[in-house]
Amino acid sequence: MNLIGKKIVLGICGGIAAYKTPILVRRLRQAGAEVQVVMTRAATSFVTPTSIAAVSGRAPRDDLFDLQAEASMGHIELARWADCVLIAPATAHLLGQLAGGLASDLLTTLCLATRCPVMLFPAMNNVMWESRPVQANVQRLSEFGYHIFQPDSGEQACGETGPGRLPEPEDITPHVISFLNTSRMLAGLRVLITAGPTREAIDPVRFISNHSSGKQGYAFAEAALDLGADVTLVSGPVALPPPKGAHVIQVQSAEQMLSAVLSKLNSTDVFIGVAAVADYRPKEVHEQKIKRVEQGLDAIPLVANPDIIATVASSPHRPRLVIGFAAETQNTIANAEAKLIRKKLDAIIVNDVADKRIGFNGDNNAATLITATGRKFFDQRPKHWLARDLLLELSSRLTGGLAPTNPLYP
Ligand code: PMT
Repeated sequence: MNLIGKKIVLGICGGIAAYKTPILVRRLRQAGAEVQVVMTRAATSFVTPTSIAAVSGRAPRDDLFDLQAEASMGHIELARWADCVLIAPATAHLLGQLAGGLASDLLTTLCLATRCPVMLFPAMNNVMWESRPVQANVQRLSEFGYHIFQPDSGEQACGETGPGRLPEPEDITPHVISFLNTSRMLAGLRVLITAGPTREAIDPVRFISNHSSGKQGYAFAEAALDLGADVTLVSGPVALPPPKGAHVIQVQSAEQMLSAVLSKLNSTDVFIGVAAVADYRPKEVHEQKIKRVEQGLDAIPLVANPDIIATVASSPHRPRLVIGFAAETQNTIANAEAKLIRKKLDAIIVNDVADKRIGFNGDNNAATLITATGRKFFDQRPKHWLARDLLLELSSRLTGGLAPTNPLYP
């Protein structure tokens, strides 16, 4: 894979890591890309336009109101020309501008005016990176559809150690190559995803449920859409906006979720069960609100709910791939492996929900992907990134390719 024929706008912001960008330009060009650099005013204090012009073979752009440059290729044309906008380093300031939808200079205007993917490689002091405003902006930008890459960890220019370093140009280039060559990788694939909790009614005002927010399942839907898949999302009650482009079916209970899933099975290639389905429901749903005084209720008889994913995996209309999740609090791997076999799944993704930093409700997750032939651990990252990384890891299986391009166990 390479970048032959790809047109990249490389945005450079004003951070010390900008010193790496002339090399990045060379690596991208060596891989075959045409590179047009757009610098912020602050970036010109860290790397000179002259060096950028020399390595890119084009004059860098830095002014939204440059009449001469606008006359040759205006900013809107530049936004249309690009196959991808890559910003490295992306400073805290730029993340804030993009998260706020500002168009205050050429680079931010381009990001708003383009339909092509925007890849952000943040780099900054580790305390800034971990600060709540920056992390909230990162989360917001992920939701907007920006593709954000984790900074490297290590010694920083300011003398501190931690996450915030711009990866080396040799490491950024393969990301760009893989990104631009996989952007429509799942085109035509019909993916059915369940997300969120189910609610099992006790009476008109009470129910049994769990802490699932739907974030991980919605992140899968968005990542699959980004990769070109047709996505149907069967969602329990959550407070999230529907992913743009997905067909969403809203349900409440496990039985409703099962019937929505079964109604789509004939037209599904891949099923991913991320929902936290309640295993039990009240045997009887009281028509009226149960009164505390009158009945002195001390037990609610329960019955087992249908196992949705096991039903899917054993169905005569079984999708080509059935992938489950496992939420475990102990013996995570052994318990997940038992579920993989018992439910007849092709793969299971296990997260340790006893760890309060990940799993239910938060914005981050860490998980182990288990198949019949091995395991791979994905350390903590935003749920959107985890979903995309898992889909890429499973790409050869998802697309039914015989020769894996991204083998799980090389
Ligand atoms: O929604 P978030 O707040 O982002 O949290 C994400 C998550 C923790 C809910 C998610 O990452 C996760 O772990 N989902 C699976 C939760 C779960 O119910 O795990 P389980 O081990 O009980 O179930 C195993 C598999 O069987 C799952 O694919 C589940 O969807 C499926 N199942 C379970 C019970 C049932 N009756 N029917 C099912 O289909």
